Amino acid sequence: MRRTRLGLVTGGTFKTGLGVRLDADCTTEDLRVGEMVVIEGASNRYFGMITDMQLQATDPRLLASPPEAGSTLLAQALTGTVNYATVEVKPMLMLELKADLDEQRGPGPVRTIPMHFAALRKASAMDFDTVFGKEGGTNFAVGTPVPMDIPIRLRLDRFVERSNGIFGQSGTGKSFLARVLLCGVIRTRAAANLIFDMHSEYAFDKQTEDGHFVRGLRDLFGPQILVYSLDEGAAARRNVDVTLAVGLNQIEAEDIMLLADELDLTSTTAATAGLLGDQYGKEWLRQLLAMSADDVAEFCQSSGAHPEATRALQRKLRGVQRRAYLKEEAPFSLIDEMVAALGRGRSIILEFGRFDNPLDYMLVANIVTRRIRRLYQQKMERFEETKAETDRPPQLVITLEEAHKFLNPAVASQTIFGTIAREMRKYNVTLMVIDQRPSGIDPEVMSQLGTRVTGLLTEERDIDAVFTGVGGRSFLRGALASLDTRQQVLLMGHAVPMPVVVQTRTYDEEFYRAVGSSGSWTEDREINATDIWGKKQ
Ligand SMILES: Nc1ncnc2c1ncn2[C@@H]1O[C@H](COP(=O)(O)OP(=O)(O)OP(=O)(O)O)[C@@H](O)[C@H]1O
Ligand SMILES: [Mg+2]
Repeated sequence: MRRTRLGLVTGGTFKTGLGVRLDADCTTEDLRVGEMVVIEGASNRYFGMITDMQLQATDPRLLASPPEAGSTLLAQALTGTVNYATVEVKPMLMLELKADLDEQRGPGPVRTIPMHFAALRKASAMDFDTVFGKEGGTNFAVGTPVPMDIPIRLRLDRFVERSNGIFGQSGTGKSFLARVLLCGVIRTRAAANLIFDMHSEYAFDKQTEDGHFVRGLRDLFGPQILVYSLDEGAAARRNVDVTLAVGLNQIEAEDIMLLADELDLTSTTAATAGLLGDQYGKEWLRQLLAMSADDVAEFCQSSGAHPEATRALQRKLRGVQRRAYLKEEAPFSLIDEMVAALGRGRSIILEFGRFDNPLDYMLVANIVTRRIRRLYQQKMERFEETKAETDRPPQLVITLEEAHKFLNPAVASQTIFGTIAREMRKYNVTLMVIDQRPSGIDPEVMSQLGTRVTGLLTEERDIDAVFTGVGGRSFLRGALASLDTRQQVLLMGHAVPMPVVVQTRTYDEEFYRAVGSSGSWTEDREINATDIWGKKQ
């Protein structure tokens, strides 16, 4: 049998973790900071994480005159006797070992520590199953523990019920991991998804940094995914179901305040939008765009608005008005149909095509989400009245790339996304925010994120941000620092019983086979656009 014992507990405290002396034949190089390990106590089994390693010597004189380089025999003789290594282990979960198996429950929070000389061992496949659950239901393998080839499963039902974050520097694999997770959510039907796909990378084939092509969600799931696009040109070239148009009537003053930076508006100019909103209500933007110089003067007189600011706002918004997707008037029915499709368990990807700049992205994402939120709120209120299961709106996850644009401290209190992150769980809508710079996101929003998935971060501010509101953060810093620059993440929070470092699942042919509904989706695709809308779009 493979030797799995690593060492014995020799000290430690409940608060700071345990010190374990490694066995003579176990070297620090076989272990990894962030690795999950198991300590066998007398009546409890502890699941913990290696948080630090130290080299020790019983005789300090040895350190003053170490053996010559090259005298390996001497070094070997000393190892485990005079010099030895210890690791620090922070227990994260505890399983009571009861004689009666029926009584045995799953692992729970740690309440004690083991006594001296409890054995530390490597975690086995069974230990991972005990902690992270077995295959089935909404448990979904997201990757493997770094040194081993064993699946680590996320509880997707828990993952979708609160807002989540995926963080990491550019190129760490956030968007790829988001696809893996979305595939899991779609496959296990844990939730419907709305994906704001700023760079058109989720729906169809996409080239990786390594140069080969990977399949998009529409390619994998066919008619279960609806693709919307803002760009009629791209929509004609690609297999898009609906070209989305937005009306001037749908733009609220709040949207313009959110875009103050993108439009390069001064605070007075942005505030003018609010004054116009007060005066003209829903018609504010059309009124402003149609105003003559005299009208502007008259408006400023009656509202107290600043004339120069009003003219500047008019100029800027006339520029925005020329966008091809912006119509004089658009009905809300297009967005309402999205909600109906989501309600039937479909997922929607909204591509931006050539409108892939922050201004269009923020404007449209905000309008669409505000409407969806309104409808979900109504549905939820209805469900609370009737208590009929059929009225319960299905869980919706909104995936948002470049999340800091909507959730930075300056705007998070005003945007609909900020509202959702803070309170929307009660309407069955949650966010999956994806961002390179967690420090750019409002700390209040960060502290609301249930599950955090984080790839390598090097900026101190980002590391602090990602641990906002996480207990035991000092133990997790080492694990975060130990990550590769790509495809490795630290998983922590609501959807995992304890933090763990994971090599994320590779998004390739094998993965498609495991999750996809490969087969005859091409034929279904025709039906799809017809059955949802009653007519082909
Ligand atoms: N799970 C994965 N399966 C296959 N390839 C991956 C995976 N994760 C990362 N990669 C590789 O790493 C590259 C970068 O990943 P990705 O585009 O997801 O990074 P990102 O974190 O979203 O970066 P950015 O912040 O710049 O958007 C991919 O093009 C791909 O080659
Ligand atoms: Mg990305």
